[in-house]
Amino acid sequence: MFPTTRMRRLRTSKFRSLVSETALDVKDLICPVFVDETITEPVEIKSMPGYFRQPLSMVADEAACILELGIPAVILFGIPEKKDETGSHAYGDNDIIQKAIRAIKSKVGEELVVMTDLCLCEYTSHGHCGIVSKKHEILNDPTLEILGKTAVSHARAGADIVAPSGMMDGMVGAIRSALDENDFKDVPIMSYAAKYCSAFYGPFREAAGSGFAFGDRASYQMDPANSDEALREVELDIEEGADIIMVKPALPYLDIIYRVKKKFKMPTAAYHVSGEYSMIKAAAQNGWLDERKVVYESLLSIKRAGADMILTYFAKDIAREMKNE
Ligand code: PBG
Repeated sequence: MFPTTRMRRLRTSKFRSLVSETALDVKDLICPVFVDETITEPVEIKSMPGYFRQPLSMVADEAACILELGIPAVILFGIPEKKDETGSHAYGDNDIIQKAIRAIKSKVGEELVVMTDLCLCEYTSHGHCGIVSKKHEILNDPTLEILGKTAVSHARAGADIVAPSGMMDGMVGAIRSALDENDFKDVPIMSYAAKYCSAFYGPFREAAGSGFAFGDRASYQMDPANSDEALREVELDIEEGADIIMVKPALPYLDIIYRVKKKFKMPTAAYHVSGEYSMIKAAAQNGWLDERKVVYESLLSIKRAGADMILTYFAKDIAREMKNE
């Protein structure tokens, strides 16, 4: 008790690093990369100041720059020239994402982990993450076959990890079987296991051109009110063969990250999403927040909650700062 105990003794700068419990490391970061088949120069995403879509011709240089900064992994999102009802440009060997994987792999080799977001919403004309019926229902089971095919095409192009994000029931199992049947049994799956139906994805839909023509994603993404359900989602994905599980978004869902990590002790990723990026950027541009400090505190908090790795649009900024320190 006070005055014997004085918590402030160890808070002096001399001791602080010795007693700190969590550290942010550039090795924990995964950098999202948007590759757009319709452009020839990088295009800034309006609602994500400082973030760009890359043309195919420049995506390998971008990946090399990310690796050079010490970031160990990228996650790729493809924006195809042509979209259709069933997202058929998600899985062709000469479609945008497959070409981007090959371009990156031939430039940077094996050192960089290339993950691919595995979803149909960027490839479908209606913008939903699955096949849609005439009555506008999102059809679960017919979607699984396409996801399996897409996963195999990513692996064939050289993807190191596939990351299904469409929240279809049974997607992890279907993708695992498809990969195994095609001799890709060593390609891990990072499942967007507890993915909430979140308004924080707003800017991403501009970034990836994946806004939807009707309805919303509430019939497949999770209700923000629920947390026990997240544990069930994660448990099912682990049973189906997920190697890494993800919680998304990150900051508003730290309780979910904490519970998931505590219960399953799996490699756990958190996605610090587009809206989380845009909020900080907007406030910083107005001079209302210190961007550098707020970003560092946010990512540290995500790690403290239990994440082993963080997908964030601030990856390059943080890596650059750590390099200069
Ligand atoms: C695709 C997908 C989305 C995000 C990642 N993969 C959008 C969505 O579900 O609507 C969001 C990422 C972000 O907001 O940064 N299904």
